[in-house]
Amino acid sequence: MTTHTSSTAQTVEEYLEQGIRGIWYPVLASWEVSSNPVGITRLEQQIVLWRDQQGQIHALEDRCPHRGARLSMGWNLGDRIACWYHGVEVSGDGVVQDVPAVDRCPLVGQKCLRSYPAKEIHGAVFLYFGVTADEEPCELSFPQELANAEEYSNFLCTASWKCNYQYALENVMDPMHGTYLHSSSHSMAEGDRKADMTLEPTDSGFIFKKSDQMGVNFDWVEFASSGTYWMRLSIPYKKRFGPGGHFWIIGMVVPEDKDHCRVFFWRIRKVKDWQRDIWRFMYRNRLEQLHWDVLEQDRIVLENLAPNARGREYLYQHDVGLSRLRRMMQRTAQQQLATLNEVAQ
Ligand code: FES
Ligand SMILES: [Fe+2]
Repeated sequence: MTTHTSSTAQTVEEYLEQGIRGIWYPVLASWEVSSNPVGITRLEQQIVLWRDQQGQIHALEDRCPHRGARLSMGWNLGDRIACWYHGVEVSGDGVVQDVPAVDRCPLVGQKCLRSYPAKEIHGAVFLYFGVTADEEPCELSFPQELANAEEYSNFLCTASWKCNYQYALENVMDPMHGTYLHSSSHSMAEGDRKADMTLEPTDSGFIFKKSDQMGVNFDWVEFASSGTYWMRLSIPYKKRFGPGGHFWIIGMVVPEDKDHCRVFFWRIRKVKDWQRDIWRFMYRNRLEQLHWDVLEQDRIVLENLAPNARGREYLYQHDVGLSRLRRMMQRTAQQQLATLNEVAQ
């Protein structure tokens, strides 16, 4: 018995508000999952995660098959989790392994819960959210600033925001806000306050950039889909902020529910050997707080947008990047809804 993830009567907008599927999402930082089971909501799905004795992460629907108690309130038994309410034990693949309160219970051996393929990589836990519950996960790859750990060094910063995830994505796809919202920050005070923007397709997405200013401020951003949706940007950094040229940011966003999301930003520099040590020391001691301050500015604006801000906008040329992303996501949502409709028939 498996569960499907959506009612098929949804509109494309409603589906998008919940989150695109068929991709991997970062759901938590690695350090947030220790031996106690953790309950989270992502794409409006309640999920329990825990680590077994080998450190391997398991992720299941957070709902005991017996009477619906939260498994995240239960006990970690390694490769399985035991419900707090009456002790039913379920393994990481969603199969009931034991019903200790009765003999020969027919529930034993049944797959009752959806399980989520999990990977731990670059300091985050990624789960695969299939369009349907039992589909095979797609490949997952990362841009070189994350994938090449020898040349680059990163810090992951993650935060929960009270806004739909689409606003958080679109905020990064809008480089021009750096010059205004972050004008007092240590890294985005320079450059022209007007710009023409251009869009350049790439193999896995597109680049949206200022036509005549590069390397001065937050001047460009790239969106790509490579098994997960990621955005990349770089900001020039003054010499006194340590070695390593530009400061790179890779950003990802996961929906929690319609009004909440979790953002993940990897802050990255191209540094190795002793330079890496210097940078990591400086980052922890002097730079991290500055970056949190910038992120707070984004959070405050987004959490206080007018209700249903997307429903009444006057977009201009600087919003071409986010419009492109919207169209792309709408197409994907349409295809995924069509798949769900087929499965339901
Ligand atoms: S509700 Fe979980 S064992 Fe009864
Ligand atoms: Fe910002």
